[in-house]
Amino acid sequence: MPRAGVVVHVLLLFVALTACAWPACRATHNITAILAEHRDLVEFNRQLTATGLADDIDGRNTITVLAVDDAHMAQLKAKGLPRDALRHVLSLHVLVDYYDDAKLHRLPGGSTVVSTLFQASGDAPGSEGMVKIVVRRGGRVAFVPQDVDDARANVFYVKSVHEAPYNISVLQVSAVITSPAAEAPSAPESKPNTTDPMSKHGSHAGASTAPSPAGQGSSEADTAKGKQAGDGGDRGNKNGASSGAAQCGLPFALAFLMAAFLVVNW
Ligand SMILES: *[C@@H]1O[C@H](CO)[C@@H](O)[C@H](O)[C@H]1NC(C)=O
Ligand SMILES: *[C@@H]1O[C@H](CO)[C@@H](O)[C@H](O)[C@H]1NC(C)=O
Ligand SMILES: *[C@@H]1O[C@H](CO)[C@@H](O)[C@H](O)[C@H]1NC(C)=O
Repeated sequence: MPRAGVVVHVLLLFVALTACAWPACRATHNITAILAEHRDLVEFNRQLTATGLADDIDGRNTITVLAVDDAHMAQLKAKGLPRDALRHVLSLHVLVDYYDDAKLHRLPGGSTVVSTLFQASGDAPGSEGMVKIVVRRGGRVAFVPQDVDDARANVFYVKSVHEAPYNISVLQVSAVITSPAAEAPSAPESKPNTTDPMSKHGSHAGASTAPSPAGQGSSEADTAKGKQAGDGGDRGNKNGASSGAAQCGLPFALAFLMAAFLVVNW
């Protein structure tokens, strides 16, 4: 193979690899900059950065961030949660689907279940990283984690902060969304005396599998609603899993093909 041919291939490989590092390949938003325009969301913004969630949000498309004002963030801070638990609680505020003001008020059947970054992290037991969105009588919209009783819902939609359909939406909510699962001290690592290796593996696998739609209907009475909620949740999961990778897939495939070609022809 002629030297010039090799040089061309190396060049193409380089171009393909850098294409993926180029901004066009990433999601186009910057949650830190979006929140910085709002003076009462300073602490929420700071904690997203401190927990590393800001990077996760910027790396995804089709996402909804439920922002909490400084006064309510102060209540969360007062709980003194360990870093992992704090990250879990905040990741309940990132829905891996796009919901803006209009979509919230047009929910088919008045409710849906959405996956969050807590669910996507695989740290949530079962489907406890899912959040239910319920339109109440009078049009109030509530956000309720799966492991919290509907009747105890106390977090409501306040207003839309930023909408860029269908990339990112930032909605302000009335308080911190939290749940026993999110606040639980993070598990197995600190238990050296697990004599049964199956139990550890079993529980981990259980935590990272997608929830079954069957487990999501809250009562037998609204099976239809439950089914629909399940579909929504699954779609959310799929979005979450694929949105980051999909956009970079092509350049990587190209780079791989070229590298293979190069090796074969060397
Ligand atoms: C996002 O915006 C913040 C504040 O404007 C800035 O400091 C940061 O560098 C930006 N991040 C990226 C990846 O552009
Ligand atoms: C959404 O993101 C894409 C690229 O990922 C961009 O081309 C488009 O302009 C964005 N839409 C909005 C409303 O920002
Ligand atoms: C680990 O072992 C100690 C004693 O060896 C026991 O007291 C403790 O309950 C065990 N913890 C677990 C999680 O099994």
